[in-house]
Amino acid sequence: MANVKMSPIGLMDMLYFKNKKVKREQIIENTPLTALVQDYASNRQAAARHPNSQFFTIEDIQVRGKGDVRTYTLRRTDGENPAFFRAGQFVVIRQVIDGKLIARPVTLSCGPAMTLEGKIQLTVKRVEQDAFLSAYIHENWKVGDEVETSGPQGTFFYEGLRDAKKVIAIAGGSGITPVFAMTNAIADGDEDFDMTVLYGSRTKEDILFADEFAAIMKRTDKVRLVNVLSEEEAEGCEHGFITAELIRKYAGDGTYSIFAAGSQGMYQFLDGEAEKLGIAKKYYRKELYDNIGRPWMYPGYPMEAKDQVFTLKIKMCDRHFEIPCSANENILVALERAGIAGPNRCRGGICGWCRSRLLEGDVFIPEDSDGRRAQDKLDGYIHPCASFAVSDLSIEMPLKK
Ligand code: FES
Repeated sequence: MANVKMSPIGLMDMLYFKNKKVKREQIIENTPLTALVQDYASNRQAAARHPNSQFFTIEDIQVRGKGDVRTYTLRRTDGENPAFFRAGQFVVIRQVIDGKLIARPVTLSCGPAMTLEGKIQLTVKRVEQDAFLSAYIHENWKVGDEVETSGPQGTFFYEGLRDAKKVIAIAGGSGITPVFAMTNAIADGDEDFDMTVLYGSRTKEDILFADEFAAIMKRTDKVRLVNVLSEEEAEGCEHGFITAELIRKYAGDGTYSIFAAGSQGMYQFLDGEAEKLGIAKKYYRKELYDNIGRPWMYPGYPMEAKDQVFTLKIKMCDRHFEIPCSANENILVALERAGIAGPNRCRGGICGWCRSRLLEGDVFIPEDSDGRRAQDKLDGYIHPCASFAVSDLSIEMPLKK
């Protein structure tokens, strides 16, 4: 038998581990069966910055433009400050209409500094085909009402590590709201970059926030506004569309980022202009949430599916639903129309919050809003907020978180 020599240190180690087991058993034996209270300051801070819900009282309503745009000033009902946000982000409004919970993103149109006064502002354009929410808000929301929103969401904001120091913002119509929020943040000192806003409107009468922009440009020389009118010629304004030539004229020399916020049609035109400018992909950013209402305008759409209504089978844990799903609306909207609240956040295919498994059938996903991971594509996962039925479907979806 081999003669094993053990140093005093080795012996102490052995005793340490031998006693450790006994000590652990004693601690387990003496620990009460009640759950540990886990109240960490970092968790509390995270919850305050990323709340699932915020409740507000409507304090003021301002009518803008031709009367089809309204800015709502909302004050946190519990007296706390609303969650701080990055200018350009949105909140999801949750509204029960006819017994169904409808959720829609609306951009925060104020600068984040307003949260320090306990308030936020949302600007809502009434869109007739959006039968769910914008018309409801315009007709029903009044001063003193309580409304519920999510915490701030979205990735359309300035990021110094990625974006150029000079930004050309291109906005069409009510798409100006996130850009307006960013210019407020620059004037307040919450963001530090130069922004030239090329703002496309049909006529002078359609321009939103005209007085506010004038006030911002008095406070900072980092913001410049150029109004571009497509249906009218007016002194001090450009006329026509926002072309590569116009962008070049105002961007000048050096690197710049383009931030675009507007309609699907505007993006399709701008994509061509951005190509002419040879702008790198990372310097061309678009606000995309909830934007795609005409999927057949995207390359690769199977035209035979357009205007059809398919059957959508949904499995959510042990619950099963069967609902109609129009080819012209994304799957998340079809669910909400049927009164089924699916998980959602960005509503633009990017965050993955609504990630679901496609069990049967085919969907169309426009490339612009396909934010799935490569492995998810292989494994048959989809993001219903950015997916359109092109056949009958069967989907497994997580419960609303
Ligand atoms: S809600 Fe973000 S990907 Fe669908």
